Amino acid sequence: MHVAVIGTGFVGVVSAAVFASFGNDVTGLDIDQKKIDSLEKSSVPFFEPGLEELLQEAQAAGNLSFTTDYEVAIPPADIVIVAVGTPSNSDGSANLDYVYAACASLAPHLSEHAVVVVKSTVPPGTFTALKQHIDAHADVRYALCSVPEFLREGSAVADTLEAGRVVIGGEEEWAIKKLVDLHKPIPAPTVVVSAEAAQLSKYAANAYLATRITFINQIANVCEAVGADVQDVIEAFGYDARIGHHYWYPGLGYGGSCFPKDVKELAHFAEKHGDVAPLFAAISSINQERPRKILDRISQKVDGWSDKKVAFLGLSFKPHTDDLREAPSTFLIPQLLAAGATVVGFDPKAASHARSVLPVHDQFSITESLDEACSEADIIMAVIEWPEIIEHDYAPYRREGVQQWFIDLRNQFSAEDLQALGYDYSGIGR
Ligand code: UGA
Repeated sequence: MHVAVIGTGFVGVVSAAVFASFGNDVTGLDIDQKKIDSLEKSSVPFFEPGLEELLQEAQAAGNLSFTTDYEVAIPPADIVIVAVGTPSNSDGSANLDYVYAACASLAPHLSEHAVVVVKSTVPPGTFTALKQHIDAHADVRYALCSVPEFLREGSAVADTLEAGRVVIGGEEEWAIKKLVDLHKPIPAPTVVVSAEAAQLSKYAANAYLATRITFINQIANVCEAVGADVQDVIEAFGYDARIGHHYWYPGLGYGGSCFPKDVKELAHFAEKHGDVAPLFAAISSINQERPRKILDRISQKVDGWSDKKVAFLGLSFKPHTDDLREAPSTFLIPQLLAAGATVVGFDPKAASHARSVLPVHDQFSITESLDEACSEADIIMAVIEWPEIIEHDYAPYRREGVQQWFIDLRNQFSAEDLQALGYDYSGIGR
């Protein structure tokens, strides 16, 4: 099959590489010439395990090319996948400008019986308007479908190849058959529903997971108030098969480019429709306040930040990515600096990207060496659960007779072990 993928951000590049690896003839399209030049050389402008290799293989096999030209990518395509960004507007609603622009540009070049697939996350109710928008520019018979994306950053390739489900939203049987065929190599249950239901299943999944994270963070607060360990609570309640032990890591709240944006968008949508689902606005605001509240609590424990050297371990929003969008580092480091601390940020993969997001100066530096970050530190803050951080030995940084704190913001360390070394240990909800 011939596939065109519009938008070479995270979802677009992964989709293009994966569908090409299935033997399809794929063209990735982006209006950004720089991105296209770099992808043509198999160079991915962000860190994602396994992606560059998959891209190289597909390009070497002649299955994958890139262009900035709609006239090149769209006419041969049986399937056109729209995977452009939908950033948040200041009121929380999704900015659909890129989606509409891509649809207007692709429409005049569509071939008879092409299937246009929206993979970008668009709010409920968008499909009718999008259809009218494409109709205004197209003069062939085409179908508009939704195939939402459920992959996570840091494990995107594996998540796509071993997806838990493929959700196809659409009405026309001929179009659905094409999409079922495209996804056949993925050994997952395929759910066929309306485009709106497919799209909403994406919002519902993200909002549920965000709610779950917020829930465990609230339980962690209660644990702190009564002196219980949240990890013990998770261990105990997780044996209920309806609840389980997974995806229950308390921390600073959810970050990244998806959960914060999608929950805000759902909250905005619910408010606009008579406040039909007030839960989402509450989740969003609890999550937004969390880093500040946690920082206040730590400030009291460490007796202020002034003149203290802080080793801030983990700058990306989660492990195995160099993405800093809504990362704890972007909220906390400016506050630590304002409070008078000297901060050394460490990250195994995001250090160079972090330098462009968090400007370094006298009080703040960024390093790829854990040793450099931790040596002479008064406070070691383990913020992101990168394996490099969890598996490191912190014994060499202990200084006899000096009070030092170890702040474990993902509950990845043994309090007893660190206390035995002489650190003043503090976790989340324990
Ligand atoms: C998320 C979803 O997990 C994907 O299914 C979805 O496709 C994607 O958004 C998207 O909409 O494109 P992602 O943002 O890459 O993927 O990351 P997650 O691993 O889900 O983590 C999101 C945030 O929640 C991170 O800040 C993480 O640290 C936090 N988290 C996650 C917790 O605080 N506790 C947990 O138990 C799990």
